[in-house]
Order: sequence, then structure tokens, then C-alpha cells
Amino acid sequence: MSALPLIELKAVTKTYGQGTTAFQALKGVDLVIHAGEFVAIMGPSGSGKSTVMNTLGCLDTPSTGEYLFNGIHVETLTRDQRALLRRRYLGFVFQGFNLLARTSAQENVELPLLYRGEPAKTRHAAAKKALASVGLAGWEHHTPAELSGGQQQRVAIARAIVTEPAVLLADEPTGNLDTHRSLEIMELLWKLNADHGITVLMVTHEADMAQYAKRIVHFVDGVVDSDTPNPHPTAHHQNTTQEVV
Ligand SMILES: Nc1ncnc2c1ncn2[C@@H]1O[C@H](COP(=O)(O)OP(=O)(O)OP(=O)(O)O)[C@@H](O)[C@H]1O
Ligand SMILES: [Mg+2]
Repeated sequence: MSALPLIELKAVTKTYGQGTTAFQALKGVDLVIHAGEFVAIMGPSGSGKSTVMNTLGCLDTPSTGEYLFNGIHVETLTRDQRALLRRRYLGFVFQGFNLLARTSAQENVELPLLYRGEPAKTRHAAAKKALASVGLAGWEHHTPAELSGGQQQRVAIARAIVTEPAVLLADEPTGNLDTHRSLEIMELLWKLNADHGITVLMVTHEADMAQYAKRIVHFVDGVVDSDTPNPHPTAHHQNTTQEVV
């Protein structure tokens, strides 16, 4: 591990609303994440998991405290600077896939590159490669409605990795999937971490899924309650490997 953490949260708080309706979702979070880690974030509903993910993902800003990304003080950046950091370094995967309907897998995956202003030829090639890397070669022209939940989530992962991010942030990526599809997604996240060196932060409610991570952080009531290494992460390389290579 390098001396400089990739991500560091210092005493981060987040308060939603004001006055009598104010609610403190994060109450002083300290968290250090190094490049190459695979961290599962667990904890009860309402404990602040999504709030911390949105903060890490520059979708939201802390109320107080510091967020350092590669030593840069993110909390001092402008909105535009944060957007640049997000586009350059971060990829997102959500529970609900969040794909554009009536839009092909290929076009969904190309979107982040379109925002970046990449030319069509570069976009096509990169999206095709990303879809192949999640086991969806040949499915480029299918729309979300023509794909299973597991396949839709793989399109979403392809969209998240097409920009070659340093960090993949996944908030309950298997929350809408059955066990078999969930394990396929976990195998894929495991591979992206192990083979491609992408730092993975994943929220999950399921202990089986968290076991794929190298470290498990528990949130309770807006703070980190426990933070423990997982010495024997799951890594099956099941029969699905061919599909997910
Ligand atoms: N935009 C918002 N405005 C007001 N309150 C919010 C907002 N977002 C989250 N909260 C509150 O902050 C708390 C933490 O929410 P958060 O979504 O981070 O929980 P979580 O741990 O992800 O829960 P779950 O497991 O249900 O997804 C909750 O009590 C929630 O109601
Ligand atoms: Mg949540």
C-alpha cells in the first residue's frame, strides 16, 4: 500500500435540512481507503451508508469535516471541479441499474464518454470492449427491457468502468437480484478489483456478498462502528467465469 491513502474522510458530518427538521445522517466519519482495496460497507437501514457513498462519489458534500482524494481537499473544490474529479476517477453502480430505457446497451455504456466529449469512434470501441469485459459481447444492441436484471446490472457496470475509473462505488448492486445473479455480479466486481486493480467500495445488506471484500466496515447511526479485515475473501471463479471474463 502506498503511504498516501487514495481516500480519506476526517470527522465528516452531514446534516440534511435545517432548524427543527434538521437530521444528522453522518456524525463524524473517519475512514481511510488505499488504492486496490475492496471494501464492503454494511449496517442497518438509515445508518448513513448511501450518504457516505454519495459523499465519496462527489454527488454530495460534507457539512463539516474533510474529504481527501489523492491528497486533494475535495470539500474545498467548486461544483465543476468536483464534477471533473467524478468523471475522471469515479464509476457508479446503483441498486436500480439506472439505465436509459429504449436505449441500447451500447449507447448506455457510451454515455459517460459522450459527456467527456470523446469522438464517436473512440466511444464505440471503448463501449464494445467494456461490454465484452462484463460478458455481454453480442448484446450491444439490446435495450434494458430485452435484458435480465443481472444483464442490466452488467451493462451498468460496463458503463461505470468504460472511463477506466480508479474507484468503483456500488450502492447495493445486488439488491434487486436473485442469489445466482448476485453471485455473478460479485464475481465480476471481484475480478475488476483483482485483475484490473480498480478500488471497489460496495454497500450491501447481505453477509454472503460482503464476504467477497477484503475488508468490512459497519456503519451504525451515522458513524463507523467496526472496521475489520476479511482474511479469506470469497473468490470462486465458478462456471460463470467464461461469461464474466
Ligand atoms: N436527501 C435527504 N434529505 C433528508 N434526509 C435524508 C436525505 N438522504 C438521506 N436522509 C436521511 O439520512 C439517513 C441516512 O440515510 P442513508 O440513505 O445514508 O441510509 P442507508 O444506510 O443508505 O440506508 P438503507 O440501507 O435503507 O439504504 C436516513 O435517516 C435518511 O432518512
Ligand atoms: Mg442506502
